[in-house]
Amino acid sequence: MGLATLLSIGAAVAATLPFFLSSSTVEGYISVMLMTANHGLKLSLLIENLLFALLLFAPIVFTLHFRRPALDAFDSWFVGGLFVSLAMTTIVASKPGAGMHHFLPLVPISICVLLSVLQAPASRLAPELNPRDGLHPEKQCQEECMIAKQHKALVTGSCGLIGSEVTRSFARLGFSITGVDNNHRAVFFGPEGDTSWVLGQLQSELPQYRHASIDIRDRETVLALIEDLKPDLIIHTAAQPSHDRAAAIPFLDFEVNALGTLHLLEAARRFCPESPFIHMSTNKVYGDRPNTLKLAELETRWDYADPAVQHGRYFRMPTCCLRGGCLTGPNHSGVELHGFLSYLMKCNVEGREYKIFGYKGKQVRDNIHSEDVASFMYEFWKSPRVAEVYNLGGGKSNSCSIFEAFHMAEEVTGRKMKWRYVDENRIGDHICYYSDLRKMQVALPQLENCQDTADDLRGDRRELETALVLQTTG
Ligand SMILES: NC(=O)c1ccc[n+]([C@@H]2O[C@H](COP(=O)([O-])OP(=O)(O)OC[C@H]3O[C@@H](n4cnc5c(N)ncnc54)[C@H](O)[C@@H]3O)[C@@H](O)[C@H]2O)c1
Repeated sequence: MGLATLLSIGAAVAATLPFFLSSSTVEGYISVMLMTANHGLKLSLLIENLLFALLLFAPIVFTLHFRRPALDAFDSWFVGGLFVSLAMTTIVASKPGAGMHHFLPLVPISICVLLSVLQAPASRLAPELNPRDGLHPEKQCQEECMIAKQHKALVTGSCGLIGSEVTRSFARLGFSITGVDNNHRAVFFGPEGDTSWVLGQLQSELPQYRHASIDIRDRETVLALIEDLKPDLIIHTAAQPSHDRAAAIPFLDFEVNALGTLHLLEAARRFCPESPFIHMSTNKVYGDRPNTLKLAELETRWDYADPAVQHGRYFRMPTCCLRGGCLTGPNHSGVELHGFLSYLMKCNVEGREYKIFGYKGKQVRDNIHSEDVASFMYEFWKSPRVAEVYNLGGGKSNSCSIFEAFHMAEEVTGRKMKWRYVDENRIGDHICYYSDLRKMQVALPQLENCQDTADDLRGDRRELETALVLQTTG
């Protein structure tokens, strides 16, 4: 239960309590309320007090307007409460015999609210984007591009699936981008995971792209880079992304995923604490828990049995952590251990055998295109919040089982999938997982439409077709 709910319940109980006391009556209660409205108002006092209330509240409104801080729910109640108190005090202080001194207790409160608003992280872009128009509509991007041009983004893992999409999207908006990637994916997965072809594309396509072949495990270099750059936005996607691989290389996995992330966060706290920090994480942090939900076996997939089941506060930094479902897009260097649709399509096109590990091939994943991930990050950049965590995926309407993905791949290419069934499932693999997107949609309502569009127009088929383009052209 949130603080706001508790306060509302408290206020409701306080207002109702007199009705339960034997000494009080309804008439008594009403007459107390009426008493406060008695004596009328004195016009000259009212005008004077309105001006004084304006004097107290104007700096807060002014600051809110120009910094558009990411007020969390508590802050919003705080500012709202102050506004109501000022309005009520204005009435009380305008009665004959009263005066401006009634505002005295509100002066320190106004100063506190003003300070808290001033310290909240500011949003960098004022104009609103229509999410239905996507991230990079040529026609209406000009104004935003001009504003974004003043900004520097640091993207880690810039040659990976998400990092490269984000780099392109934000570069189109006019950001200057510094990308960090040391092609560690080739170390994790061998030559098939090599991402140097993506680096070549970024360098030839984007004049404002600057590459730093830095290992995020190297603390001093990361600190120096961020001290020097002081980016306005950090998008952290560098990672060892495969849970299967993690079991074989636990130290390396921890050092890249945990320690590397800490290096970046601490550097951000020291040198650019107001810059939004977005961490592209994974739903695998939920471990086996999704597998403990009651499931129903349908003809081609597993599903939740109960249809109702879906799925730096300390430093007050504008950070968010995205728990991704299956992410996909044209820049994926898909391998067997990582890159579901990209690897599946590669197998279909090249006539390779695809191995299904357990769960009857009915295991369900929800898929989201890397462009939509970049759009979400852009929305967070515009309205950052403190220490948020969001599930990010395609949701139920954009989910498929392995067999359903086979079927769609065959429809797209006209080729039969070659596959083999291995009885044993992958450790840590989810039987059925599609993201609960409600929090994401509540926090950033404009994305609800964006998600619908993604569901309607793109769907898994679009993810597969994108993967197909990749496999046949590159
Ligand atoms: N692709 C998916 O299906 C998926 C699903 C859920 C969550 N995620 C998460 O999203 C994030 C990004 O995933 P992705 O698919 O873009 O991965 P990716 O492997 O395509 O990209 C990661 C990039 O980081 C780079 N990198 C790795 N270690 C590095 C280091 N020490 N220093 C510098 N660069 C390094 C790699 O070379 C690679 O180019 C990861 O945290 C992953 O767990 C991905």
